[in-house]
Amino acid sequence: MKKIIAMLMALMLIVSGIAVFASCDKEEEKPVIKMATNAYFKPYEYYDGETIVGIDAEIAAAIADKLGMKLEIVDMEFDSIITAVNEGSVDFGMAGMTVTEKRLQEVDFSISYANGVQAIIVKEGSPITCADDLYAEGAAYKVGVQLGTTGDIYATDDFGSANVTTYSNGNEAVLALLGGSVDCVIIDNEPAKALVAANAGLKILETSYANEDYAICIKKGNAELLEKINQAIMELTDDGTIQGIIAKYIK
Ligand code: ARG
Repeated sequence: MKKIIAMLMALMLIVSGIAVFASCDKEEEKPVIKMATNAYFKPYEYYDGETIVGIDAEIAAAIADKLGMKLEIVDMEFDSIITAVNEGSVDFGMAGMTVTEKRLQEVDFSISYANGVQAIIVKEGSPITCADDLYAEGAAYKVGVQLGTTGDIYATDDFGSANVTTYSNGNEAVLALLGGSVDCVIIDNEPAKALVAANAGLKILETSYANEDYAICIKKGNAELLEKINQAIMELTDDGTIQGIIAKYIK
């Protein structure tokens, strides 16, 4: 009898040992899901020391969690995100990215998780007082934008590429504005607020330039991942997680 009990106990130890081992193993071997972003876009994605934080980073982590995966964020030029998604070097792109007709020809988009507005930043005392001033008869203002963004695309359409200068990120565009090489910067409203708060002598015009929806982009035809991400966004919307994350960064 004693022997049997001892054997049973030994067996239990082994089984529980395996269980613990297996669960640790699972944690560590969670498959990785890679997100491409451009981390110069506060409050959606920006560096806090070495880590990329922000609204998109947190929502993406919550989505990855729902998928049982571990999020890895890859920082790149905004302009390279769609290519990276299509080449498959990343699983999805999330970068305060606006859904546009043209991009829809290249990638699929999830349901939208936030709204964006294109704002106009000028120097205090600028002759540009509202969006219409940019279109005034004889006006040839120089516009600064981030390369490949909707600000870039719309401004180039409206004012011609000769009047639009592209920069690698919003901060560089704002430095050009302060230095006088452009007359205004067109960029998404929340990053605009962060840039104006960080640089004296600038303001955001009250009239905005365009309204848009932000979504996650996925390789065209990857219906399985698209479905999973949409499901996760719906659940995270319903339980208030997404609203909570946005409220944390946008007061
Ligand atoms: N919403 C704009 C667009 O889709 C700008 C996004 C820029 N995002 C970034 N992370 N730099 O074109």
